[in-house]
Amino acid sequence: MEKIIAANLKMNFTYEEVKEYISKIDELIDDKRVIIFPGNIYIPYFINKKYSIGIQNVNEKEAGAYTGEVSAMQAKSMNIDYALIGHSERRIYYNENKINDKIKISLKNGLKVILCVGEKEEEKEYVEKVIHKQIIDALDNVKDFNNLIIAYEPIWAVGTNVMPTTDKIKHIIKYIKTILKNKYNIDIPILYGGSINEENINKINEIDDLSGVLVGSSSLIPEKLNKIKEVVLK
Ligand code: PGA
Repeated sequence: MEKIIAANLKMNFTYEEVKEYISKIDELIDDKRVIIFPGNIYIPYFINKKYSIGIQNVNEKEAGAYTGEVSAMQAKSMNIDYALIGHSERRIYYNENKINDKIKISLKNGLKVILCVGEKEEEKEYVEKVIHKQIIDALDNVKDFNNLIIAYEPIWAVGTNVMPTTDKIKHIIKYIKTILKNKYNIDIPILYGGSINEENINKINEIDDLSGVLVGSSSLIPEKLNKIKEVVLK
């Protein structure tokens, strides 16, 4: 099973900082299985490199009078490979409710999609129910699953340095695989994300059926991202 690493840079870096980041990343990362998701304004500096490139969000429409938005069609025309859809920060801060449309328009335009699912702290008790609903809602009427990846990111583990036990992660990955098998008869890559760092990556990487990781804060330090890469893509 081929593994991948998604590096979500979120809304970080000034122009000077991003230039420095790119110069280090260009030296360290020469593998298309690493996907970097910069803020939109910096995307042009990251394209056509030895790593892959992704967009952190797209609009659900193809084109038109939607001030401040970016479409999947535009992303594809810039040689962007991946779209991150339904990240918890978008669900929480921006009331994201177009996940299904965003997945369909991204796939239609030839982007690979990483769909994020995960429960809030107060939903831990019934995590299966939450994830089941997120997946069913997100994949309504999706017909082609070839370019779809799911990232399990418990919201309480994102940016907190707190993580589920590996047994818990294993359990949820198995649960997601079961939903996908029973409902759509598919087997697609599943990633884990939430407080991954260069120290815990060895343990996480041993989890069966895990196709890689989605990394936030640790990906802002090129050396840390590289260490994670060395473990996951060895
Ligand atoms: P984190 O973020 O690694 O900082 O927890 C993960 C994510 O938001 O995808």
